[in-house]
Amino acid sequence: MAKSQVSMTVNGKPAEGLVEPRTLLIHFLREQLNLTGPHIGCDTSHCGACTVDLDGKSVKSCTMFAVQANGSDIRTIEGMAATDGTLHVLQEAFREMHGLQCGFCTPGMIMRAYRLLEGNKNPSEEEIRFGISGNLCRCTGYQNIVKAIQYAAAKMNGVRFEEAAE
Ligand code: FES
Ligand code: FES
Repeated sequence: MAKSQVSMTVNGKPAEGLVEPRTLLIHFLREQLNLTGPHIGCDTSHCGACTVDLDGKSVKSCTMFAVQANGSDIRTIEGMAATDGTLHVLQEAFREMHGLQCGFCTPGMIMRAYRLLEGNKNPSEEEIRFGISGNLCRCTGYQNIVKAIQYAAAKMNGVRFEEAAE
């Protein structure tokens, strides 16, 4: 099958490759760029494990072709920590608040939470739950994921995180 050249910015660096028209973005990221943080958890576009940030939006990278991402600016979980290894506040928050168990959903969950907080610096619990409703977690029951996002929001706003009484 004829291949097309694609080029994009991924985690701040130029990336390019040859892809078939049917190559999904998730496969391009994982198999050609070796970015295996974005996961494949379903074949129905439901789980959100493949979520990346693309041109300022959360995108399930299994739902678009690599050629459609040509020219775009993409951030994956691999691009969240600083170059010196300092965790992004959301990564720190998921660790501190035990927002993961097996971790399979976590890269997608963090990328979704990142875009959520970019658009809403101080979301309510309801807004967080709605905001991550496209990302499924089989382990945690979501409670600690919500807390982790609240922790990150508080830290980004320079205020002390107070856990709500249960
Ligand atoms: S792999 Fe499940 S939504 Fe993309
Ligand atoms: S931590 Fe296991 S699926 Fe979310």
